[in-house]
Amino acid sequence: MEFFWCLVFSAQLARAFSPVQLEDNELRHMQVDVQLSLYHVNNIDSSQTSTSLLSFSDMFVKDEERVRAIHSRLTDKVGTRSRHSSATSHGGGRSKPVSLPVKSGLSIGSGNYFVKIGLGTPARYFSMLIDTGSSLSWLQCQPCTSYCHVQVEPIFNSSTSKTYQTLPCSSSQCSSLKDATLNDPSCETKSGSCMYRATYGDSSFSIGYLSQDILTLTPSQTLAKFVYGCGQNNEGLFGLTAGILGLAHDKLSMIAQLSPKYGYAFSYCLPTSFSAVNSSKEGFLSIGSSSLAKSSFKFTPMVKNPKIPSLYLLDLTTIKVGRKPLKVATSSYKVPTIIDSGTVITRLPRSLYEALRKAFVKIMSKKYKQAPGVSILDTCFHGSVKSMLTVPGIQMIFRGGADLTLNAHNTLLEIQRGITCLTIAGHDGQNAISIIGNFQQQTFTVAYDVSNSKIGFAPGGCQ
Ligand SMILES: *[C@@H]1O[C@H](CO)[C@@H](O)[C@H](O)[C@H]1NC(C)=O
Ligand SMILES: *[C@@H]1O[C@H](CO)[C@@H](O)[C@H](O)[C@H]1NC(C)=O
Repeated sequence: MEFFWCLVFSAQLARAFSPVQLEDNELRHMQVDVQLSLYHVNNIDSSQTSTSLLSFSDMFVKDEERVRAIHSRLTDKVGTRSRHSSATSHGGGRSKPVSLPVKSGLSIGSGNYFVKIGLGTPARYFSMLIDTGSSLSWLQCQPCTSYCHVQVEPIFNSSTSKTYQTLPCSSSQCSSLKDATLNDPSCETKSGSCMYRATYGDSSFSIGYLSQDILTLTPSQTLAKFVYGCGQNNEGLFGLTAGILGLAHDKLSMIAQLSPKYGYAFSYCLPTSFSAVNSSKEGFLSIGSSSLAKSSFKFTPMVKNPKIPSLYLLDLTTIKVGRKPLKVATSSYKVPTIIDSGTVITRLPRSLYEALRKAFVKIMSKKYKQAPGVSILDTCFHGSVKSMLTVPGIQMIFRGGADLTLNAHNTLLEIQRGITCLTIAGHDGQNAISIIGNFQQQTFTVAYDVSNSKIGFAPGGCQ
């Protein structure tokens, strides 16, 4: 009893003396620490980890498709999306279908880092890709009426969960699907159940029942009535994971659904992915306002773009190579700049990229002989990553001074034995964009403070 009063008293004291009045729920947010371990899909199955040239070129094909899909959302006229009803198209500018060897097991088109979460009563645990470019979360569900791909854990059987429910077509969540998936929901006539259709830039998709059930983040942190898709037809390279957790800025995203309980914020650290030395590295996904308190972030404002309201944008203001700013007009930077967990290679508008490439090659070519390009990477050198000791640093600076100061592990990839390439590429297209890819985000803690509309970076979050 005394303990209880003591708590009430100190909460009142905190309120009386704190310069910013804290609401009850904000006090609660700060105390809760929800952190999940995060891994690269290369680690999900050791038989899938061959990093041959073939799988890198698959990866770049998928990466291009994702970039093309994001780009088409941005250039598409608002309001015309619903007419593109093909399951393989995410917006206008239908991307041409490509066939990929499914054996590569890599899922790049929809993000390539995963966490484990629990679903249902009793909770079953699943490996799920995290994706800042997706809003709706979904996973494969029995009875898989059309198709389910191979996944590491047994497929979720919703009829074994005591708390599972499908949502009706009349529900508000069903109406939110249009914004979340860019596809209209459909209604199963006999049951009145709401059906979602999630489509990705490549030919991947998931179709199934809009559902709700208990989400278990950690044994003590759960969310009742978590809304997600129970996928009956799922095709694509999802890298043996069960599905996707949507982290985008949208009502239906997992982050938005968790926000009343933990605060509207999250942070992650993506571990280095393709280093042969130790591929079982671990990063984290941290949820809620408490995730902002962990590191000393430097923040930059989030930018809103009405054509892609669910994506996270920021303002890139300067790029330095070897501490010197690129010799370009400031207007070169003024294009929509998206930070994305699912794009691997950073894309820059062609003119900006050419300036960066020139500055980088000027320094590198003093020590290392240039080599022919590979796929989208056109700046390559003879030598292993390990042997390259004098690599110029690349710094990306955002409005307000937040920066990503990139070292060799963020800028170079040994694409085949003895050939190492710069992991930044130029992007052509009439409406220029920049995308900050996940290779450049590796090892930084990246914070998304959605309530306060800012994005932060702190170095040294994971290995
Ligand atoms: C799912 O669970 C139900 C109830 O236990 C069972 O009858 C059904 O056979 C299961 N389905 C599959 C595909 O395992
Ligand atoms: C690889 O990294 C993991 C996680 O950081 C660690 O537990 C393991 O011991 C490392 N293995 C080697 C061979 O260094």
